[in-house]
Amino acid sequence: MNILVVFFLLQWAKANLGQSANLRPNYVLFVADDLGIGDLGCYGNTTLRTPHIDSLAEDGVLLTHHVAAASLCTPSRAAILTGRYPVRSGMTSFHRIGVFIFAAGSGGLPTNETTFVKLLKEQGYSTALIGKWHLGLNCETSDDHCHHPARHGFDYFYGLPLTNLRNCKPNGSNVFIMGSQHVIHTTLQLVTLALFTLLLLDYLALLRVPWRTLGSVFLAAALLLVVLVLFLSQFRNLNCILMQDEKIIQQPFSFDNLTQRMTSEAISFLERNSDHPFLLFMSYIHVHTALYASQEFLGKSKHGLYGDSVEEMDWSVGQILSSLERLKLSKQTLVYFTSDQGAHVEEISDSGEMHGGWNGIYRGGKSTNWEGGIRVPGLLRWPGVLTAGKRVHGPTSNMDLFPTIVNLAQAKMPSNRIIDGRDLMPLLRAEVEQSEHEFLFHYCNSYLSAVRWHPRNSSAVWKVHFFTPNFNPEGAQGCFDTYVCQCYGRYISYHDPPLLYDLLSDPSETAPLTPTSEPRYHQILAVMSTAVEDHQKGVTPAPNQLSLANILWKPWLQPCCSTLWEHCHCGKEGGKSAPQDGTVDSDYPPTEA
Ligand SMILES: *[C@@H]1O[C@H](CO)[C@@H](O)[C@H](O)[C@H]1NC(C)=O
Ligand SMILES: *[C@@H]1O[C@H](CO)[C@@H](O)[C@H](O)[C@H]1NC(C)=O
Repeated sequence: MNILVVFFLLQWAKANLGQSANLRPNYVLFVADDLGIGDLGCYGNTTLRTPHIDSLAEDGVLLTHHVAAASLCTPSRAAILTGRYPVRSGMTSFHRIGVFIFAAGSGGLPTNETTFVKLLKEQGYSTALIGKWHLGLNCETSDDHCHHPARHGFDYFYGLPLTNLRNCKPNGSNVFIMGSQHVIHTTLQLVTLALFTLLLLDYLALLRVPWRTLGSVFLAAALLLVVLVLFLSQFRNLNCILMQDEKIIQQPFSFDNLTQRMTSEAISFLERNSDHPFLLFMSYIHVHTALYASQEFLGKSKHGLYGDSVEEMDWSVGQILSSLERLKLSKQTLVYFTSDQGAHVEEISDSGEMHGGWNGIYRGGKSTNWEGGIRVPGLLRWPGVLTAGKRVHGPTSNMDLFPTIVNLAQAKMPSNRIIDGRDLMPLLRAEVEQSEHEFLFHYCNSYLSAVRWHPRNSSAVWKVHFFTPNFNPEGAQGCFDTYVCQCYGRYISYHDPPLLYDLLSDPSETAPLTPTSEPRYHQILAVMSTAVEDHQKGVTPAPNQLSLANILWKPWLQPCCSTLWEHCHCGKEGGKSAPQDGTVDSDYPPTEA
């Protein structure tokens, strides 16, 4: 008898544990790169076809006011993974370059930062990152992999340690020529001037310049130039790398079938873990330049190569969603879709084609804190838990993913640091009307440039800008002279008093309020400036990961699958990945589970 009771109790416990396991969902997180909020059908686009992404909005919740913590890739992605403003982890720059640009730099997401991935792994989840990382690789040697995704909780990695760049296309244009032309020019001028001065002084017998000194100056200049030219000509080999776990499998990576390869990697991961809790971070290299699309999508959209690329990404999302369905995992899986920041409006190809996306009604784009730079898509689907077709209008942040996931996985929130994100579930489940976010702070690299205030018990959303980028030409929507907007000096304008906008009535930030147009003008500014002071008191400086010393090319950190003399070239081009020993894997996609 007793045994029978125990048996039934066990059955009951199993059923209930099964239910509470339901509270610990699997995760599929889609993060697009530089996708504009106005590129998606569910956010109002009528000509680009994104049916699979749109289906998430039909079957789940659409956030209309979802905000990225930064408007550049590296800091925004650091914020997603840590739930913290990237300035707290040292992942913001104080100079012109705001992201990692070389695979052989030494900065990266510090390992004492806790990602939600690490916490989930501790809870028994299998975790994978497919696609772009862009949060550093090495510290001291070319393969110490101190910043590799594996150091941050990912069991499996298939993708780009750095990022996709125009230079990664065989005949792609060079983003660095634009930036370095000035440097090369100035260096040449300085060297010529120095040589000329020395020669003149020597000729006038004012100074005896040993030939050795002259020779050294000349040699040093020549060497510098050769290194620079060599580096630029080898840029693609050195920086466009495809890795599988800790191994380089293609260098430079080929765009052929790249989306198909990544999609099939994602699906294999789902299949391997269909009876096990998992987290898949699908970090698309779409729709950053270099734009690419495979044969089936090339020329098929109404918006050139950019549109083709968006539609190919949507196809990939569809493949992954239907695999979830096939594996009967949809109901136990929380799916999230976002973009790391707004569309890059300055992306115009050499032939003048628009290679950046569309930010809808929002002003500006990537690299600015105008809404166009940080207002991103936010879609969440979890059938049976989240109401299909629900819309949430209050401000939310991409940092909210951290506490949301950590709480759902019943992991412990780190208690020894400030977490800036807020759990989304109460808001999504309509248990509360407002997110806990009252203020959101917007940094331009390391400099605070704007604040958003959503007062309690009010639907109002105010935003102030302390400085804004100077668009060029004036009246344009971007900084077309600098490729990305800058955060100091002659590239910006300070505003004192700051520019104040009412985002509810003026989401496009066209008409700053004045004391006459808004009677509470002074009160609002006072509240926001107190909030800034409080916030800044709580930000303690961390070692800067994006200092020039950390991001510049260090030859001894260069990941290289062959030797430098073989130009670090391996892995067959044409869609097939080859293992490091050079033998080509003819069996692609891999057939084993
Ligand atoms: C849809 O997206 C394309 C590509 O970014 C853009 O050119 C177009 O203006 C958008 N259409 C609408 C209606 O938003
Ligand atoms: C990580 O270490 C750095 C350097 O020691 C320190 O400044 C920072 O506060 C640490 N971060 C955390 C989250 O503990």
